[in-house]
Amino acid sequence: PRKIIIDTDPGQDDAAAIFLAFGSREEIDVLGITTVAGNVPLRLTSRNARIVCELCNRRDVKVFAGADAPLKRKLVTAEHVHGKTGLDGPDLPEPTMDLQPGHAVDFIVETLRNEPEGAVTLCTLGPLTNIALAFQKAPDIVARVRELVMMGGGFFEGGNITPAAEFNIYVDPEAADIVFRSGVPIVMMPLDVTHQLLTRKDRVARIAAVGSAPAKAMVEMLEFFERFDIEKYGSDGGPLHDPTVIAYLLKPELFKGRDCNVEIEVTSELTVGMTVVDWWHVTDRKHNAKVIRHVDSDGFFALLTERFARL
Ligand code: BDR
Ligand code: CA
Repeated sequence: PRKIIIDTDPGQDDAAAIFLAFGSREEIDVLGITTVAGNVPLRLTSRNARIVCELCNRRDVKVFAGADAPLKRKLVTAEHVHGKTGLDGPDLPEPTMDLQPGHAVDFIVETLRNEPEGAVTLCTLGPLTNIALAFQKAPDIVARVRELVMMGGGFFEGGNITPAAEFNIYVDPEAADIVFRSGVPIVMMPLDVTHQLLTRKDRVARIAAVGSAPAKAMVEMLEFFERFDIEKYGSDGGPLHDPTVIAYLLKPELFKGRDCNVEIEVTSELTVGMTVVDWWHVTDRKHNAKVIRHVDSDGFFALLTERFARL
């Protein structure tokens, strides 16, 4: 199976991504989950990650807490989307499994050094703070990463936290800038893709029909999470962002994109956190990311439902 580290700020859609990974044990080996401050503060994202592990009977998974604030900015959170705990919706017990001793950044560095070169994929579902810190601390690990698949950014679709910026990039644009300049092979799942993945009633009903505890929790999370997006976008369900990262590892053929240059705006007050994607190749700036723009949405939801059934 493909070895991955999931760096995350759960979040209901982060939870969906973790469920998808855990439901795919033949294909994916989760070496560890590292948490970051984002949707809610670090204490809660670290709590939520463990709740998700326990829901899936995966107390064996190592969870490490990481950065509690962006590199240079004050933390911006998203309780207006995810609720007070970050995982509002289902009524879930507090986790009893422990966080691992040590910092998430050290775990990332050590894992990349200890595993064979090119073996580990980084899957990022939140602000890129931990990854930037790891790359700064240990530049030698960059060349050892197989691929970094991220949910973040938006280009033709615009932003969701400001008109120009998507949340994960906006929270820590300096970290994103470091990662995009690092030379690590990047696959980027922007809002342009995730807004094609609406949690329509029929799709949620198919997950509910699986009937397991994780499926039930997921449905309750989605019902909470989507209420915000339905109001805001007037759409038929809310967009499901973070599981795209794991779905790409399982079925890349569901996605279409192209290699582009992507730069991060870090100075302008108006557009800070914007991902400037050279989709039309109008510059000769170096391609540093595969930017995904299209997804087979029915194929994606079929995969998600199938993997819930395996959990
Ligand atoms: C991203 O921001 C968070 O609120 C979600 O979990 C997702 O990672 C979408 O912009
Ligand atoms: Ca997230």
